[in-house]
Parts: sequence; structure tokens; C-alpha cells
Amino acid sequence: MKLILLGPPGVGKGTQAQKICEQFNAEQISTGDMLRGEIKAGTELGKKAEEIIKAGKLVPDDIILGMVENKLFGVNKPKKYILDGFPRTIPQAEGLDQMYGRHNEKLDMVISLEAPEELIIKRLSARRSCKNCNQVYHLVTMPPKKENVCDKCGGPLFQREDDKPETVKNRLEVYKKQTEPLIDYYDKKGLLKTVDSTGTPNEVHEKILKALE
Ligand code: AP5
Repeated sequence: MKLILLGPPGVGKGTQAQKICEQFNAEQISTGDMLRGEIKAGTELGKKAEEIIKAGKLVPDDIILGMVENKLFGVNKPKKYILDGFPRTIPQAEGLDQMYGRHNEKLDMVISLEAPEELIIKRLSARRSCKNCNQVYHLVTMPPKKENVCDKCGGPLFQREDDKPETVKNRLEVYKKQTEPLIDYYDKKGLLKTVDSTGTPNEVHEKILKALE
């Protein structure tokens, strides 16, 4: 299984990637989580990425492509995985195609998740994430059992800096300009399936399973 989950910020890519990975014993590869890990570790890459992410812009393609190639084809390369939040630009998608060419592998499918903008904004404004393990919650639809404490690891929950309303607006604009063209890119390659991401997380998961059949 080599899958891409495509879609605007807050549509539910991370939530669904986690469910599919649990079911199929695959690895979730989120470039957003990787970048937040670099920021937390205080690396040079993290320092470069921090301001860009805060502004809701995209980290340069060459940095992302290097990071992804190491992950996909380096030591401990995963056999089954879901790419969550990558690729996000046409040059990233072309770079990924070249990587697969170099390593003689291929992508199985691209699932594009869709939801109206009002719903996306509601989802992002009440998202909380665990500082330790990145588990994601929603204050209304998926609250933690104990306020501000992660059910999984007991870590503290926080609101992502880029989930503040002004940055969300920028992220949605960046998605439309730079990432949405990928829908057409993968449709032309015959790899695209579109899934309606409204409904509960379990309902959306069922729709994804149908698309995977
Ligand atoms: P990244 O972390 O990838 O953010 P994103 O793509 O904007 O996506 P999100 O994580 O915000 O949303 P999601 O779709 O995963 O939704 P989730 O499941 O959490 O990237 C962050 C930044 O890093 C970028 O802006 C960029 O700067 C940089 N970056 C990352 N990758 C890059 C790349 N390839 N190139 C360049 N720059 C890159 O759900 C959202 C909320 O809704 C949660 O609270 C969840 O609990 C809730 N929810 C989800 N599904 C449902 C449902 N069905 N019903 C009710 N609630 C739901």
C-alpha cells in the first residue's frame, strides 16, 4: 500500500491516515509532523520552517523532497505507507514521480478528501494536539477524556500556532493556488479517487475503505 491523502488543511487527512494505518498496519508519513519534530528539536531545518509554518506558507520544495526521500527510501524504509500532507505542489509531485522512477516503485492511489470551507474552519478552530505524541483531538467532536490531557500518553494538549483564524485563511488560499492543481495532475494519471469528508470520522473511514476496494 502506497497511498497519498490529499486535501485542504483541516479536512481530516491526519485523522483518516491514522485509522487506515491502524487497520492495514501501514506507516503514516506526515510532512507537517516531521517539520514540527524538527522545530521541537531546534534543528537548522526546524528554524527555517518555523516562521514559514506560522505564516501559513509552504516550506520550499527542495527541503521537503530531501526529507521525504530519506524517509521513504532510507534505512528502515516503510513497505506500506500513507503520505499525509505531501505532495503539496506540482514540483513536489513531479519530484515524487522521479523518486519512484529511481527506486523502481510506484504509487497505488491518491485519495482526495473534500469538505465545505465552513466545516474545515470549524474543525481547525477547535483542534487540539498532544505535545508529546501528536495525537489529534477536537473539543466538540473528539474531546479528550480529561480536559487538556492526551488519552494516549497523558501529555499536555495545545492549539497549533497555525490554527489561529488569520493563518487558517492564508493556508486555505495557499491550498487553492498551490495544492489543488494536484487533483487534476493525479486524475490525468488515473490514480485519483474523491471521497466526501463530511460526516463522522468513522463514516468517512468507511467511504475511504470503499474507495480502496
Ligand atoms: P500539516 O500539518 O500537513 O497541515 P495541513 O495539511 O494544513 O493539515 P492539517 O494537519 O491542518 O489538517 P488535517 O487534514 O490533517 O486534519 P485533521 O485530521 O487534523 O502542515 C502544516 C504546515 O507545514 C503547512 O502549512 C506548511 O507550512 C508545512 N508543510 C507541511 N507539509 C508540507 C509540504 N509537503 N510542503 C511544504 N510545506 C509543508 O482534522 C482537523 C480537526 O478536525 C481535528 O480536530 C480533528 O479531530 C477534526 N476532525 C477530523 N475529521 C473529522 C470528522 N470526520 N468529523 C469531525 N471532526 C473531525
